[in-house]
Amino acid sequence: MAKRSARPNSKDQNVCWCNFVKKSTLEEAIKNGATSLNRIFDRTSAGVGSCGGSCRPYIQRMLDQYQKDGTFPENPRPLKKNS
Ligand code: FES
Repeated sequence: MAKRSARPNSKDQNVCWCNFVKKSTLEEAIKNGATSLNRIFDRTSAGVGSCGGSCRPYIQRMLDQYQKDGTFPENPRPLKKNS
C-alpha cells in the first residue's frame, strides 16, 4: 500500500488523499495529453474518491497553470495552517 504524504514541502505530495494519487502522477497525465479534469480522473483515479472530489480544485489548478505556462505549482495542495 502506498504511504500517505501530506507534508506541504514534500516534493511528491499526495494531491488526492482518497486514492493516494501523487503530484508526479498527475503531472505525467497532464503532460501526456489529459487536457480536462475528466481525462485526468480516468487516467489516474484522482478526484473520484469517497470524499466526493475535494482535490478537484487543486487538480484544476495544476491543469490551468500547465496550460498557461507549461509549469506546475510546486505545492498544489497546501495544508491549512492549523492542520
Ligand atoms: S481527495 Fe481526491 S477524491 Fe477525495
